[in-house]
Amino acid sequence: MYENSKLILDSSNAPEAGDFTWRSPSNIAIVKYWGKHGDQLPRNPSFSFTLSASFTDMLLEFEFRENYDNEIDLEFYFHQEPNAAFHAKMVKFLERLIPIYPFLPQLSLKVYSGNSFPHSAGIASSASAMSALALCLCSLEDHLFGTLKDPAEFDQKASFIARLGSGSACRSIFPHASVWGTTSALAGSSDLFGISAEGWLHDTFKDFHDDILIVSKEEKKVSSRAGHALMEGNPYAEARYTQARARLSNLSEALQMGDLPAFGKIAEDEALSLHALMMCSNPSYMLMRPNSLAIIEKIRNYREDTGHQVYFTLDAGPNIHVLYPGTIVQEVRTFIESDLKQYCENEYYIQDWVGEGPEEV
Ligand code: PMV
Repeated sequence: MYENSKLILDSSNAPEAGDFTWRSPSNIAIVKYWGKHGDQLPRNPSFSFTLSASFTDMLLEFEFRENYDNEIDLEFYFHQEPNAAFHAKMVKFLERLIPIYPFLPQLSLKVYSGNSFPHSAGIASSASAMSALALCLCSLEDHLFGTLKDPAEFDQKASFIARLGSGSACRSIFPHASVWGTTSALAGSSDLFGISAEGWLHDTFKDFHDDILIVSKEEKKVSSRAGHALMEGNPYAEARYTQARARLSNLSEALQMGDLPAFGKIAEDEALSLHALMMCSNPSYMLMRPNSLAIIEKIRNYREDTGHQVYFTLDAGPNIHVLYPGTIVQEVRTFIESDLKQYCENEYYIQDWVGEGPEEV
C-alpha cells in the first residue's frame, strides 16, 4: 500500500546528518490476535490497552552515504552494547522496507535502543521496540521529503510499518487503546494498521491499571511466530476466529458502558482461550507455569471475597497481568504485596497503567 519509488535521495536533496528519538510503549491485548496469514495480516481483529511504564526508548541517527550499494548499513546498540541477534533482525526488517523506503540503503544508520523494564524480564519488547522504530522511520521520511505532515497520516503509516515488524506493535502507536483488524464494531478499522479505540472507553477504563506479575523471566520455548504458524493446523482455528470477532463486539459494549464484570469476563476468557489453543496445537505446548495458575486462583478468590473488580489476562507467556480500575489501586497493591508477589520470580512485578501513547523526545 505504501510502496513509493519517489522516496529516493540524490545530490540535490542529500540531507545533513541528523537523528530522531521516540519513546514508545508496550500494549496488552484484551481480545487477542492469534493466527495470521499473508504479509502479517491478522486472522481476527484484536483490542489492546496502550501501556505506560513498559516502553522502549530508541534513537535513530542517519547520515547520507556518498557511495551506497543496495545493502542496509546499520549499527545497532541495545543498552549501549552491540547485540548481534537484534542487529540481524533489524537489518532483515529494514531490507523488507526498501520498497516502501528506497532511500534506506542511501543512509548510514545507527540505532540505540533500550527498554524501561530489565532485559529478559520475561516481557516481550517487540511491540514497544517495533513501534519505536516505525515512528523513528516516519519522522525520518517526513524530515527528508515532507510527506507526513498530517498527524493522522503519520500515525497510520507508523502503525502500518510497525505491523510489518511485529503484528501487535501496530496497536502501540495510539494513546489509551487501539483496535487492529477489520471489524464492523469500529468504523475505519483495517487489517493493515491499528486505529484508535479511545472512543470506546468509558471513564472507568481511562484510569485503568495493569500490574505485570513476572512468574518467569525465562525466554519462552515456543515463539509467538511459531505459535501463530501452529494455528494453521489447529482443529479449533475457525471456531476461534469466530469467537474472537464476537468477543470484540461484546467488549466494545462493555467498554462503552463501563461494565467491569462484562469486561473482566471477556478478558479472562480470552486469556484462557489463547493458552487452550496452545495446548491443543500439534505439537501441543504450554506456556503457563504452576505459579500462573496459583495467581489466577488467588485473583478469583479475592474478587469473590471482597467484591473488588480485579481481573487477569496473559500474553503468550507465563506472566499474569492484573487488571483493575484506578479507584482500588491501594487495595489491589496491598493484595499483590501480601498474596501474589511470592509467586513471582524474585518477587518481581511491574506497576503499569493505561497510558498516553508514544512521544517524540
Ligand atoms: O505481535 P506478535 O506476533 O508478537 O503476537 C502477539 C500475540 C499476543 O501477544 C499473544 C496477542 C496480542 O494480540 O498481542
